[in-house]
Amino acid sequence: MSTTNPPNESPPRSFPADFLWGTATASYQIEGAVDVDGRGPSIWDTYSHQPGAVWNGDTGDIACDHYHRMDQDLDLMKELGVGSYRFSVAWPRVQPDGKGPANQAGLDFYRRLVDGLLKREIEPTLTLYHWDLPQPIEDEGGWCARDSVERFGEYVDIVARALGDSVERWITLNEPWCSAWLGYGAGRHAPGVKDIGKAVAATHHLLLAHGTALPILRSAIPDAKVGITLNLGVSRPGTTHELDLAAARRADGNLNRIFLDPVFKGHYPEDMLDHYKANLPGFSVVQDGDMDVIAQPLDFLGVNYYFPGTIMDSTRVKEARAAGYGVPIGEQFPDLRVLSLETPGTDTTSMGWEVDASGLTELLVRVKNDYTELPIYITENGAAFDDYVDPNGHVLDHDRVSYLEEHISAVHDAIKADVNVQGYFVWSLLDNFEWSYGYSRRFGIVWVDFPTGTRLPKASFSWYANTIRNNALTYSTSGGD
Ligand code: FCB
Repeated sequence: MSTTNPPNESPPRSFPADFLWGTATASYQIEGAVDVDGRGPSIWDTYSHQPGAVWNGDTGDIACDHYHRMDQDLDLMKELGVGSYRFSVAWPRVQPDGKGPANQAGLDFYRRLVDGLLKREIEPTLTLYHWDLPQPIEDEGGWCARDSVERFGEYVDIVARALGDSVERWITLNEPWCSAWLGYGAGRHAPGVKDIGKAVAATHHLLLAHGTALPILRSAIPDAKVGITLNLGVSRPGTTHELDLAAARRADGNLNRIFLDPVFKGHYPEDMLDHYKANLPGFSVVQDGDMDVIAQPLDFLGVNYYFPGTIMDSTRVKEARAAGYGVPIGEQFPDLRVLSLETPGTDTTSMGWEVDASGLTELLVRVKNDYTELPIYITENGAAFDDYVDPNGHVLDHDRVSYLEEHISAVHDAIKADVNVQGYFVWSLLDNFEWSYGYSRRFGIVWVDFPTGTRLPKASFSWYANTIRNNALTYSTSGGD
């Protein structure tokens, strides 16, 4: 892609000199090799093999075959010019049974990965848990059972000792909301359970696992920088009616405050405690001392952002339609009584997610005002579109370039508003296994031809490489080709 600015250029939006540009993936979504070198089964192996669980019957058995193509992927990252690569370690590669001694072959794979990154001057950013819970732990109750917390601590200790000399930036959990609420509440992710009470228990145990990991990491790696990655959003009321304001607040409580309050304030939000106590078995799993474990100091917060939400009370379907919103059928969590609305006329990605970068700036300012001035990394942001290889052999994914440009610009706005954002990671390096959507949704800046595993950088790859090289958004693509 040309580095010359078009005539209608807008002023360059430069980033701080030490801003960290990166890209992200997760183990189950890219590695494949599910039964190689002693890896045990995870809940995603079990779930994806259940008929009807994943679109088209897709599984992560082969995925991008990154396990065997790691060097090629490392070279792509070198070409891209990223300062950091965020990947996750598959717990069942390290402890095939979810407990007991380490599987050395599994650790060796991540050692090769980390060494390969450092050789290419790319900093590793290691996520300890991106959803692939060892199946034997699930068989004993999974995240609904308190024992899983101790299991996680043992696993973290093994990984910290094995890789702590070479990895500085550690993320305990990726998006515990998804693990708990999609996995145990909505049944749309592994292990496919639909029980709100269990989702509440899983929420608490995941947060406790996060807190339990902190002293383990700090004692094994004194210089470690440790954080947690949350999928946060903005929850905008669809009207100013008091019922809709209250509904938006409940949605915010479930998605954002139920995680942010414990981590940064040491307690669950009162309204959510009341909600889940009044409606469900609730937070009966919280024991004395737990909140202190959860609220230990961090070095940074990881934020994943994709789209904003517009919310009304679930009794107000007629009013929502009258206000011009699209009303999806079926509520994910009936106890919450919220409608998540579609705003006609707004662009959407192929996930059906609305494209609105202003939500990212709004969210970052809110995190700073209400919770923390710690460094923030945007640990995931990106979009799926219906990409294709054109007759000239190119993937001209201009929609993705626009999406990235708008969202990186929104990060720039947040920095101007004094939010301490120190880095940005594109989701994702590669097209990959998009959970219950299988391979039908492509998020990569590199196209993967799944039958052959061939990689092909898309136009967004060159655009992002250029942005990284300039450490700036040099021109706007919006309204362009
Ligand atoms: C996030 C997940 C990530 C990916 C993106 C699209 O919720 O953390 O693995 O699937 O969504």
